[in-house]
Parts: sequence; structure tokens; C-alpha cells
Amino acid sequence: MLQTINNLLQEISVLLIKNSEELESYRLKYLSKKGMISALFDDFRNVPGTEKKEVGQKLNELKQEALEKYNSVKSSLLNTEDISSEVDLSRPSFPYSTGSRHPISIVRNQIIDIFSRIGFTVSEGPEIEDDDHVFTKLNFAPEHPARDMQDTFYISRISSEDSNPEDILLRTHTSSVQVRVMQNQKPPIRTISPGRVFRNEAISARAHCIFHQVEGLYIDENVSFADLKQTLLFFAREMFGEETEIRLRPSYFPFTEPSAEMDVSCKICGGGGCNVCKHTGWLEILGCGMVHPNVLESCNIDSNKYTGFAFGMGIERLTMLKYQVNDLRLYFENDMRFLDQFKTAF
Ligand code: DAH
Repeated sequence: MLQTINNLLQEISVLLIKNSEELESYRLKYLSKKGMISALFDDFRNVPGTEKKEVGQKLNELKQEALEKYNSVKSSLLNTEDISSEVDLSRPSFPYSTGSRHPISIVRNQIIDIFSRIGFTVSEGPEIEDDDHVFTKLNFAPEHPARDMQDTFYISRISSEDSNPEDILLRTHTSSVQVRVMQNQKPPIRTISPGRVFRNEAISARAHCIFHQVEGLYIDENVSFADLKQTLLFFAREMFGEETEIRLRPSYFPFTEPSAEMDVSCKICGGGGCNVCKHTGWLEILGCGMVHPNVLESCNIDSNKYTGFAFGMGIERLTMLKYQVNDLRLYFENDMRFLDQFKTAF
């Protein structure tokens, strides 16, 4: 009899009960009045007196184990059945927050989108550049102040006094990509180049040592200043709204001749004058001009056959105007209270 009890103990301990039907058969088989354990208690009467103590203990142990198993399986089945009746398992999972694009990325993508609609491709160049691509080929005179250590982060400089086309530096503008594109492609060229630029400036609400620009370049036969103006008017109206007006003021850049700076009519006051436009009604957004013949020639493009225009704008500035951000540092601090405000933009 001891052997039978031990076998049953073993059997019960490894038994798997998966649902309430199986639990009920288990109860009937082992625990009911007509079950196996009850039958063993009946047989117990016939056990000789000397063995009664040992067999009795084992039999009680078996009954205890069988009951415990029954109760624990029952409560775990109840729990799962409870849950499945209360929870709609076909419901989508909890909504999760998707975050937002950085405002600089939002505006960069808008600029790319606007220009791609009128046939501009996107090109990129290295952030670590040489003097040749950032300055020399763009017609900067050897002693031009932009090459100065005050403005430019040099990585290696051949001589501490004179600049050298082989000096390695962090690009100070994305105009360097113009040079790379013109060296590698034949006209017609129509491209914009978004990217990071670096200048040795103290960080404040209005200046930062890292910022973003988009450069534009259009080279073909018979490209005129009127083409430049029409392209930029299209851009300004797509970016700031149909009512937007532009004006071009004469300016100077070594790589363009003639050169201009472009203002857009202030969207906030509609041109009447406010704090943002410093009561002028106009906001400066970019530099532009006709590509200087020296620049075309330095990139092996025949300046008698081809003309072109170029422009360059700061993405931070455009974003400031578009979303009325008043401090450049906000773009770099990753403060969720700032970034969360761009959730609905895309
Ligand atoms: N590279 C100039 C800057 O960083 C911006 C610029 C002005 C780019 C005129 C141009 C241009 O292509 O034609 O301030």
C-alpha cells in the first residue's frame, strides 16, 4: 500500500491541469467520495497494526498534497478567467507617445520640399573641410578676415600666419558644397545643400558656434538675376505664405557679383512695424547673388558659356521667424517643454 501511495504522490506532483474541465476530472479521480484517495482510506482498515502509523502518515500527506494542488490550480484558473472576461483582448495596446521632430529638422525638410518641387536636388559635403573649398575657390582674398582664427575653427594649419589651401578646418558655411558640386558635375546644375556649419562665436541668444545653413546653386546657360529673384520669391511665398513680399538690398560676398541680401515682409505685423522686425516691416533671411566668374573658373566651368546664381540661408533664423523662437540656445538644449510644442508640425 505504501508503494501505491508513493506512486500517486509522484503522479499528482507532475500532473498538468490546463483548464477547468481537466480540474474537474482531477477532482473526481482523486478527491471525490468515489475517488482513489477515498478508496485508499477504506483499504487503510486492513493495514496491520504495526504499519498503521507509517502508512497513515503517508496517506494523510497524499490527501493534503492532492487538495493543495486542486486549490492552487483552481485559483490560478479563476484569475485568468477573470481577466479574460473583464479585458477586451482585441483592444489595441496602450497608446505610446511618438515624440516630435526637432524644429530645425522640420524647417530643413520644408526647405528641401519647396526647392525639390522646382527641380532642385539635394547634395551634401563634409563638415571637416579644407581652406581650398571653404575660401580659396570661393574667391576669398588670402587676407580675408573670414579666414581669421577668430571666426574659423582650424583643425590643422600649415603656418600660423598665412592661410594655405591645404589647411584643415570646420566649414564656416555650406557654400563649400557649391565648389564640390561644380567640381564633380557638369551644368545644368540645380541643387541645394543643407548642413551644419561652425564658427568661433560666443554662445548667446542670437549666436551659436554650431548652426545650420542651406546653400542653393543654379548654373546653366543664360541664367539671369531675374531667375534668381523669381526663384526666391517662390520660396518665400511657399515658406511664409502667399501674401509675402520680398526685397533685395545690394550687398557684398566674395563669391557672388552682384550680391544681395533678401528681406521678406514681416508676417507678424504684416509690414506695419513691430518688435520682431524692429519696426521696419522687413526681416532679413538670406544672402544671394550671381556666381562670380572667378568661382566658375576655379571649378573648371566656362564662365563665358555659363552663368548662375547662388543663395545661402540660416535654418535657425528661418525657424525663429516661422515659429517665433526668441533664443537660439533653445535649439540645442533638448528641453522637452520646448520640443513638445512641435508635435503637431511635421
Ligand atoms: N555663405 C554665406 C554666409 O555664410 C551665405 C551666402 C551668401 C551664400 C550669398 C551664398 C550667397 O551662396 O550667394 O553668410
